[in-house]
Amino acid sequence: MTLQIKTIEEYNTAYQKSVENPEGFWAEQAETFTWQKKWDKVLEWDFKKPDVKWFVGGTLNITENCLDRHLTTRGDQVAIIWEPNEPSQDFKTYTYKELHAEVCKCANALKAQGIGKGDRVCFYMPMVAELAIGVLACARIGAIHSVVFAGFSAQALADRVKDAQAKMIICSDFNSRGKKHIPVKQVVDEAIAMGCDSVEKVLVYKNGRNEVTWNDNLDIWWHDTVDSQSADCPAEPMDSEDILFILYTSGSTGKPKGVVHTCGGYMVYTCFSFKNVFQYDDGDIYWCTADIGWITGHSYIVYGPLLAGATTMMFEGVPTYPNSGRFWDICDKHKVNQFYTAPTAIRALMAKGDEWVSRYQLDSIKVLGSVGEPINIEAWNWYNKVVGKEKAPIVDTWWQTETGGIMISPLANITPLKPCYATLPLPGIQACLVDTEGNEIEGNNVEGLLCIKFPWPSMIRTTYGDHERCRQVYFSAFENKYFTGDGARRDENGMYRIIGRVDDVINVSGHRMGTAEVENAINEHSNVVESAVVGYPHDIKGQGIYAYVITNYPVADQDAFRKEIKDTVSREIGPIAKPDKIQIVSGLPKTRSGKIMRRILRKIASGDTSNLGDISTLLNPDIVQEVKDGAI
Ligand code: PRX
Repeated sequence: MTLQIKTIEEYNTAYQKSVENPEGFWAEQAETFTWQKKWDKVLEWDFKKPDVKWFVGGTLNITENCLDRHLTTRGDQVAIIWEPNEPSQDFKTYTYKELHAEVCKCANALKAQGIGKGDRVCFYMPMVAELAIGVLACARIGAIHSVVFAGFSAQALADRVKDAQAKMIICSDFNSRGKKHIPVKQVVDEAIAMGCDSVEKVLVYKNGRNEVTWNDNLDIWWHDTVDSQSADCPAEPMDSEDILFILYTSGSTGKPKGVVHTCGGYMVYTCFSFKNVFQYDDGDIYWCTADIGWITGHSYIVYGPLLAGATTMMFEGVPTYPNSGRFWDICDKHKVNQFYTAPTAIRALMAKGDEWVSRYQLDSIKVLGSVGEPINIEAWNWYNKVVGKEKAPIVDTWWQTETGGIMISPLANITPLKPCYATLPLPGIQACLVDTEGNEIEGNNVEGLLCIKFPWPSMIRTTYGDHERCRQVYFSAFENKYFTGDGARRDENGMYRIIGRVDDVINVSGHRMGTAEVENAINEHSNVVESAVVGYPHDIKGQGIYAYVITNYPVADQDAFRKEIKDTVSREIGPIAKPDKIQIVSGLPKTRSGKIMRRILRKIASGDTSNLGDISTLLNPDIVQEVKDGAI
């Protein structure tokens, strides 16, 4: 059994041990899993390259740990509850035995289609249970899954499929989210038409009633190929450091990068962090509202909970359909004990009024979680009072796609809480703050750049197909440290508050976006010469997207032009990246070396033009007044 810390003293002891003897600490955790062959060495590392290996020489299959090892002890316990978009439609459950059988069938179907160890399989699928089944089926046979959030555009999907050189895409025909019906398969067809030559098969799960365009050479129905397979599929032996999955995420420059996670360390850390942060006990019903298209869904809907033998819920819909009480209705209906969501959802529901919450009992809730962006004090208080009735601790969990698992967070009912603070690092996480020169800032009551100075099991190993980029982005800024890209504050008690990104990454409704990526999309419009994108404070989304655009020729109808820009971005990336505000400008403030002064643009976008600092050294100081005057 994974260590479950129960008191703050036990936390302190575990933390101390994890720093003094990390190998011993993690070996003890790893012992609690099923290994086909035990590791020879716990850890090898060199942040300079970077080269990090955990449980070196060990062989395992993560699905044996998610499924097989639970069959004798909890085979008839529900593993996944699937709650549909339509409340009138029946929910579905899969016991561990049933899930095991479904995963094996899907794994055999993948094998029958020529998918094997090391092949990449992209998913473009809504939140149906078959998404979790498909992901686990890949892991079963050693295929590398790469889930692409089903809200991305065909172009964004094609970029990711090409980068991963995926052999197969698994999708559904349609998707229902709230009132929207999205033609998922059609988006996949469009992506394929953009030259995804590596794709040999498209496996389509039937989720809707309408017809889809069919290509006999490429397309196969899930029900035609999966349902008839044997429910027995041996688990592929995987080296600890074999790739488990790739997940694309945005950075401050260029195209999204494929973050690579490997089998052994990811398994050990996601289970450990899940059990301890949420204090999950046998019999609890746990619900994370994220989408499996993001890391939160990977680690804390699928892998962490299943590794821990939990009952985990998947929800197909949105918080506001059929009305703003939907989350709370589901919590009561399934007697949810741990509820994990994002500040943007909390703020959106808070704006709808307390009455949507007070209609429900919510007496099953023991723990509330928050993830993805800083939670503001109003949202924290509302979540605590109105949803948690001041009885459920809020675990504000800070982590990233690259970290694989929760890094800084209270352990529910153990760590003292402080609103808006992610509080203390988990055992094994050696967090530190550095100044811009890379000097570690010691002591408390300080602020700096958040780094991690020792490896942890679920950390990023590389960026797919471009190891140098991984080194450059995360390991080159400060010697011998992983740089998170976040700024943070450490209070007088050593508790961390995450302030936000210090690079050109913005966080819109908990979705991470590179400003350069959005600019590149805007620049695809034929009348755009140059653009600059910054984030600005937004009541619901946390940050909104503000775009400054220089046009080729004057724009007659500004509203029509703005719509065209939004459509262009939707087409290039997806609706989540659409700018909220678009200001047409004749120039952008630049340094003499031609660099856009984003600091000034950020201030203007946030409506704070009182002190723009020294602008006299700009190449074009006059432009600042124009930009200020035209601000939206
Ligand atoms: O800026 C931090 C913010 O989200 C970034 C990571 O985004 P992503 O890789 O998409 O993963 C999101 C889900 C794990 C971080 O660099 N972030 C995440 N959690 C928090 C947060 N900011 C403040 N508080 C958090 N709890």
